[in-house]
Amino acid sequence: MKEQQQTEGGEGENEDGEEGEWEDEVQEPPPPDSLIRTENQLSYWSGISADVNGMLGGFPSISTVDLRGSRAFLVKLGIGKTKGLHKIERTLEGGAGIGRITKGLLVDISQTVDVVEPIAKFTEELSQTPGVGQIHNMGLEEWPPSTSPSTTTDDDSSSSPSSPSRKYNLIWLQWCLGHLTDTQLVAFLRRCRDVLVSSSDSSPAPAIVVKENNATSDADLFDDLDSSVTRTDEKYHALFREAGLRLVRTELQNGLPKGLYPVRMYALKV
Ligand SMILES: C[S@@+](CC[C@H](N)C(=O)[O-])C[C@H]1O[C@@H](n2cnc3c(N)ncnc32)[C@H](O)[C@@H]1O
Repeated sequence: MKEQQQTEGGEGENEDGEEGEWEDEVQEPPPPDSLIRTENQLSYWSGISADVNGMLGGFPSISTVDLRGSRAFLVKLGIGKTKGLHKIERTLEGGAGIGRITKGLLVDISQTVDVVEPIAKFTEELSQTPGVGQIHNMGLEEWPPSTSPSTTTDDDSSSSPSSPSRKYNLIWLQWCLGHLTDTQLVAFLRRCRDVLVSSSDSSPAPAIVVKENNATSDADLFDDLDSSVTRTDEKYHALFREAGLRLVRTELQNGLPKGLYPVRMYALKV
């Protein structure tokens, strides 16, 4: 969750704010995602407090409206715990932080929730939460792990704890995909595609839900503070297509304070 960046400087102005004759010197700026540095992200997030305020960039009060919007979005996908809806078997939450969404929503609608989060201090208490399965302390760009996860509370020995063949009915990705480059994101979404499976014959088709800020400019924006990009809606559409995913539903999150980036939910299926 972030406040919108103000665009600095005007087109065609030099450092003194005067119009300059420098057209020949103008160079194409680098693609915003090429500025992403994993070590800078990790150092930023290591300094953030392990609480809702830290996860939501100083806007803890939006958590309730955010979770309500997410729950309603899942109901439209046929996933929930009330009559006529399906509680699913296994969900993966990527970039889960302290498990705000896992604890506040996903363990309600899923028997088990596995978590991917690079900052180990964020997930320390999560392992005690009923319904939480494997915890992988790694970036999404490294997932699935090729060796045993650093923490696991899952005693399901029917598949190896590190098995990349573990299947999910739902994969929830929120406010973390800006930490991946475009190439890493497409590769990660392709790996997600490969581990989607239906819960049962009568259950809805498995889905990936992405919930992210949208840039309101016509290009993605790089944020040096946490080394992430805020992508445009058009860019997300293009990357989903490239990953071979079908967009089946998309909605804006309502009820967020003015001045924040618009937040959009995308439901993707194979
Ligand atoms: C804004 S917080 C959001 C946490 C959670 N999704 C939520 O909405 O409460 C961003 C999270 O992304 C994590 N993160 C940073 N780099 C990441 C990466 N390469 N892969 C996965 N998660 C990453 C951070 O550690 C942090 O927990």
